[in-house]
Amino acid sequence: PPLGAMVSLEDFEKLATQILPNTAYAYYSSAGDDENTLRENVDAWKRYWFRPRVLVDITKIDLTTTIMGIKSALPIFISPAAMARLGHPLGEINLTKGAAQTGIIQGISSNASCTLEEMCDARSPDQPLIFQLYLNWDRQKSVEIVRKVEALKMNGIMFTVDAPVPGKRERDLRAKGDFDDEDGGTKGVAQAISGYQAADLSWKDVEWLKTITDLPLIIKGVQSVEDAKLAAKSGVKAIVLSNHGGRQLNFAPASIDVLREIREEAPEVFDQLEVYVDGGVRRGTDVLKALCLGAKAVGLGRPFLYAQSAYGEQGVVRAVQILEEELATGLRLLGATDLSQLNPAMLRYLDNKIN
Ligand code: FNR
Repeated sequence: PPLGAMVSLEDFEKLATQILPNTAYAYYSSAGDDENTLRENVDAWKRYWFRPRVLVDITKIDLTTTIMGIKSALPIFISPAAMARLGHPLGEINLTKGAAQTGIIQGISSNASCTLEEMCDARSPDQPLIFQLYLNWDRQKSVEIVRKVEALKMNGIMFTVDAPVPGKRERDLRAKGDFDDEDGGTKGVAQAISGYQAADLSWKDVEWLKTITDLPLIIKGVQSVEDAKLAAKSGVKAIVLSNHGGRQLNFAPASIDVLREIREEAPEVFDQLEVYVDGGVRRGTDVLKALCLGAKAVGLGRPFLYAQSAYGEQGVVRAVQILEEELATGLRLLGATDLSQLNPAMLRYLDNKIN
């Protein structure tokens, strides 16, 4: 179908089920065990309903923001997701170029299928890029990567902490592909690429990372109020509330619920660092809900993988445009003209409501 036929992010996902090879779709879509968290990531947003205001002149609006001081055209970013080339020959380069065209920030996975040099070559002047770091068992190898990230003048390091071991992803395990063991068993893509990742990571590594680089640090994968407080104490610039798109611990909570708990139990955290969320974000209204509760920005993983798989760079641009239009309409109908006006009083939490 022509790109213009894509009117919601879900359209890209439906198309991806039809065009992606089995191994690729299984790897992208898979999540832990029975995938309860994967479903919860989408459902949890439906428990939050708006309390809109009317009779506000909303002719002119502003959707721009900053993410760790970096300008962003929208309060969204590309969450780092591995192996974009499983879906399209240009892979992560599509994401880099699409991000440049739309003025948003790309998070680049440690397990990207394009090299950092390839992405930086495709980058437009001064385009911000954030590198997602998985620590290596051999910390010296991690130092070398950090040095490369600095040399390429990337803008920050997102340290992912929710994957000391890979989750059990059965769709990925069942899809037979290029990653089969010699003995005929199958590892799946996730296990095949993650062997170097350190299982011994701890808060000491956060301290250590701060000593080896001046790049701003973001901790990705916080899932509790307790750890949000520890992150604030550790002095990092930002956290991403995330359950890794449901791919790690099954029954991990949806990020929007963790965000609400932080708002209620430890609101000082929002003054100490920036809070981002990801997981199951598919609509502009999802983004607005997170911002009402104090998130500065929201990340999306799979929607951009699917969009670039089907349409390359232009698919990424279209996906961002869809979100931008939804954000603009949502903001106006909420009775606000810029993102700083969003606040908890504009949102109502309904415990058992799912519709
Ligand atoms: C991921 N994610 C991820 N996170 C990370 O820190 N490093 C990584 O290499 C990857 N790889 C990865 C691959 C694939 C195929 C997916 C779907 C996800 C998690 C990602 O950053 C993000 O947290 C989730 O994708 C957010 O959920 P949604 O938007 O996919 O629902």
